[in-house]
Amino acid sequence: MNTWSRRQLLGSTLLAGAGGLANLTVPFVRALAGGSPGGGDWSADFAASLASRPMLLGWKSPRADRLAGTARIEGRLPAELRGTLYRNGPAVHERFGLRYRHWFDGDGMVQAFRFDGAALTHRGRVMHTPKLARELAAGRRLYPGLGTPVPRAAPVRGPDDLNSANISVLDHHGELLALWEGGSASVLDRETLAWRGFKSWGEGLEGVPFTAHPKVEPDGTLWAFGISLIPAMRLVLYQIARDGSLVKARVVDAGPLGMVHDFVVTERHLVIVIPPLVFEPEAVGGGVLLDALAWRPALGSRVLVVAKDDFDDRRWYQLPAGFGFHHGNGWEETSGVLRFDHCVADDATLVSERFRYIMRGELRAAAPERYTRFTLYPDGRSDVEATPEWAEFPRVAPAVVGKRNRYVYTLGESDDGGEVPLRRVERRDLERGTLDGFDFGPGVIPEEHVFVPRRNAAAEDDGWLVGTFLDYARGVSGVTVFDPRRIGEGPIARAWLDYPLPLGFHGHFSPA
Ligand SMILES: [Fe+2]
Repeated sequence: MNTWSRRQLLGSTLLAGAGGLANLTVPFVRALAGGSPGGGDWSADFAASLASRPMLLGWKSPRADRLAGTARIEGRLPAELRGTLYRNGPAVHERFGLRYRHWFDGDGMVQAFRFDGAALTHRGRVMHTPKLARELAAGRRLYPGLGTPVPRAAPVRGPDDLNSANISVLDHHGELLALWEGGSASVLDRETLAWRGFKSWGEGLEGVPFTAHPKVEPDGTLWAFGISLIPAMRLVLYQIARDGSLVKARVVDAGPLGMVHDFVVTERHLVIVIPPLVFEPEAVGGGVLLDALAWRPALGSRVLVVAKDDFDDRRWYQLPAGFGFHHGNGWEETSGVLRFDHCVADDATLVSERFRYIMRGELRAAAPERYTRFTLYPDGRSDVEATPEWAEFPRVAPAVVGKRNRYVYTLGESDDGGEVPLRRVERRDLERGTLDGFDFGPGVIPEEHVFVPRRNAAAEDDGWLVGTFLDYARGVSGVTVFDPRRIGEGPIARAWLDYPLPLGFHGHFSPA
C-alpha cells in the first residue's frame, strides 16, 4: 500500500463501492433478470448429441462435486518430478434441471494431480463460492451467466455475486488461488481444495476484477489487470510484491472495453491488447450479457503500453481487428522495441458461436486462432506476422516470463483434420522457426500442457511438459508427461484415471 494515494483509492471506489455499483447496476440486472431460458431444451439436445458424438463428454458435468483417485501409470514418471499440477475450468454445466448456455458459465472445479516421483493421485473439488452456496440453499439457479438467462434471478449486488471461480489457478506467496476474471480471486485450502473466501489485495479493492492470467516474473513480482464493465468500463492495473503485498493499483480509462482475457509483461512495460469486442449495455438481449458484447472491427485492436514503474506513463498502438484469448510471452529489446505473441482470430465467433452452442451439443464453425507475432516500435509503427497454424494455450518456462524466450508450448491442429481441432501438443522454436509436436490421435482431446523446470535447470527447456487429456473414446481422463526436447517421440509417461473430467482451461504446477 506504500504508493496507494487517496486519488487512486477514490478511483477504485468507483468500481468497488457497494452503493455506487448497486445503484448503477440496477437497470442492467433488471434486463438480465427479465430473461427466460426459451429456445428449446438444451439439456435434452445435449444428451441426444452426446449419444452420437462422444467428444461432447468434455462438456458434461462431473459425476460428483468431489472426486479422488489414483492413476494407472503407463511408462515411468520421472523421479525428480514432484509436486502438484493444479487445474481449473467450468465443470458443473447442468444443475437443478438447468443447463448453462455458454462454456464459460459452469461452476469451477479445481483439480489437483499430485506427483510423488513414482505415483500420481488426483483430487477434484467444485468451487462452492457464495454464488453456488446460495443456489444450493435455494435449490435452483439464481444468477445468470455470460450466455445463460435465469428466470427470477436474484439481485446482483456486485461482480462476486456471479463469481464461479472457474478459469485458472495461481500459487503465489504460499496462497493457492482460484481465478475468475469478472471479480475477485478466491483463496483455497491447499490440501482439501475447499473454497475459503475472496481475496482482496488492499482496502478499496474488494470485488474489483482480477484477471485469470496474472504474470509472475522470475523474482516473484506479480502483475495483473482487471476489466470492469459495470457501472463504467474501466481497466485496473495491479503490481503485487513477491511477499503478496500490494505495491500499487490504478484505475485507468481505456476507452471501449469488453472481453480482454490476457496480457503481456516485458522488462519495463505491460502490454494489453484490447480487441474490438465491446460492451454495449443497451444491446443486452434476452437477458444475456454475451449479446451485449458487440463485434466492432472498425475500432481495430488497440494496444495499451504502460510503464511498470509509472502506471500514468501510457501510450497506444493501433493494430488490425482481431480477437484472441492468450499470449505466450513478450520481451523488449534495448532499443525499446517490444515483441510478443498472440493466438489471434479474425473475429470473436469462438466466444459468440462455438463456445455457446457446444453447450447444446452443436459444433458451430468459428474463426481459428493463428499463432501470430507482433512487434511494436518506439516510433508508433507495428508489424504483424501471422503463421497459418492454429494454436492455443501457449505456455513458456517460468524463468523467461517477460524476458526473451526461445520456446513456446502450444496445442496445435491435428494432422488429419478430425473433429477435434487441437489434437497436438507442440513446441515452437522461435530461433530456428521449427515446430515439433505429438498428435494424440482420434478419440482424444489434449488440454493445456505446462512447462515444469527441473530443479537447477541448465537451459530454458530443461524440464518436463505436463498436462491433461480427455480420452473420450475410452471415457476417461489422464495426464501426460513429455520430454520437451523430444515431443515428437510421444509422452514418456501417461497416467490414466478411471473416470472422465470435464475439459478445463488452465493449470499451474507447484513443486513439492
Ligand atoms: Fe485463459
